[in-house]
Amino acid sequence: MNNRKLRNRFMLLSVVILLMLAVTMSPISGQSADGQPGILTNPLNIYGGADPWLQYYDGTYYLATTTGRSELLMSKSETLAGLKAAIPQLIYAEIDPSRCCNMWAPEFHLLAGPNGLRWYYYYSAGSSGTLDNQRTHVLESAGIDPLGPYTYKGRIFDSTNDGWAIDSSILTLGDALYFLFSSWVGGNQSLFIAPMSDPWTISGVRVLISEPEYAWERVGLNVNEGPVALTNEGQTYIIYSASYCATPDYALGMLTYNGGDPLQRTSWDKHPEPVFARADAEGVFGPGHNGFFQSPDGTENWIVYHANDNDEGGCDDRRTTRVQRFTWNADGTPDFGTPVALGEPIAAPAGDVGIDPVPEFAQLPVYRFRSMIYDDSYLRHTDVYVSVAVTVDPVVDSQFYVIPGLADPAAVSIRSINLPSYFLRHEGNSILFAPSDGTEAFAASATWWRRDGLANSDWISLEAFDQPGRFIGKQFGIMALVAITENSTQIMREDATFIQEP
Ligand code: AHR
Repeated sequence: MNNRKLRNRFMLLSVVILLMLAVTMSPISGQSADGQPGILTNPLNIYGGADPWLQYYDGTYYLATTTGRSELLMSKSETLAGLKAAIPQLIYAEIDPSRCCNMWAPEFHLLAGPNGLRWYYYYSAGSSGTLDNQRTHVLESAGIDPLGPYTYKGRIFDSTNDGWAIDSSILTLGDALYFLFSSWVGGNQSLFIAPMSDPWTISGVRVLISEPEYAWERVGLNVNEGPVALTNEGQTYIIYSASYCATPDYALGMLTYNGGDPLQRTSWDKHPEPVFARADAEGVFGPGHNGFFQSPDGTENWIVYHANDNDEGGCDDRRTTRVQRFTWNADGTPDFGTPVALGEPIAAPAGDVGIDPVPEFAQLPVYRFRSMIYDDSYLRHTDVYVSVAVTVDPVVDSQFYVIPGLADPAAVSIRSINLPSYFLRHEGNSILFAPSDGTEAFAASATWWRRDGLANSDWISLEAFDQPGRFIGKQFGIMALVAITENSTQIMREDATFIQEP
């Protein structure tokens, strides 16, 4: 075993011992003992962690990541480590075909606009089946709760250059608001800035402020994207992601504002080297598309970013969310250091006493439901649709976390692994996976009683918590919520009988 692995194993062992001590000493597990610093390890998720945006607000951390689907999600936790076990909640779902799909790069900013202090949730989205129609959109919150509710506020675009646009972010300079985003110009995906008259309206033409010119910006594809503003001691920077997101050389670059008109390219000086990049010795590849947040006591600066854990990782849901503290160089520029290895214990932010509730994700039991419908067939989802199949690829589509019922802990809820916020629920007679919207009605529809198997008492059947006598079964060839009575046939009973197996 190489030194790094030995070091990590020793450090992880020390964390486990510390956790055991902390938990035995502290009244509530998941919190370190009084006065002890919190501890956490990366990643904050095991799937669907790309393009993370993380904010600490009013005593709570909020995290959103790219879903690539038709809904926007957000997790919350009082401790950074607790985000690992947090279940993302549905923020917004879209059915308008022009902007229904491929939802990327969520960012939520608290801004004082014409409607007062509101959260503005920026994201990229487009139409189904293509990425050619990606544009930038924004939601507005009803109040100052980051979880919303939100309403769709509009598509943000420069009417003189209304084309492909992604990765929107906000820059505040003095009392002026600027829109940052990425768009193609010929073979270069480049960074643009535009003035804003309010948090949802561009009030002037876009200006190109950075294009991929150095070799480290042109690996795979020529790309500058994911711009994020950062300020320190009156100095303003834009940290951005460079090169193709599906390469291990995806990295962070830096523009420094030199005081001129921010709507002029000459006002932004590019640092000639990446400021945060792959660390093979730490097993971190393609670190990028970041955000920034501060510790609860406001004394520390932290970066949140995604990365792959191997050099063949792509630009997909296998990217996971990582966090680490950073400091400043003598000249005031950020020193992000080296990406930390997964599993390496790091001190939680100052003022955060959280400890890993789940030091190793593998500890969460994973189950499959083998069906009686035909030999070696398993309950599985394909996107949100539920069926039974023999060959399930990827097998994770048929693997689930079985947790205490959302509506009654004596029952169970069944949560998808690779659709992190999705639960098995009934909607009418349909059985499908859907993201929790946090309501009691959703909880009831996603809670199931495990009963003795209707066709074999050694197996199980899943009865709807809120609809006694109706079970997950099969009707007209598809999985459905079916009423089972004494008149039901043996086939109907077999269609509603499963084995829950690891
Ligand atoms: O991860 C989805 C998109 O891929 C991100 O919005 C962008 O930064 C990258 O190109």
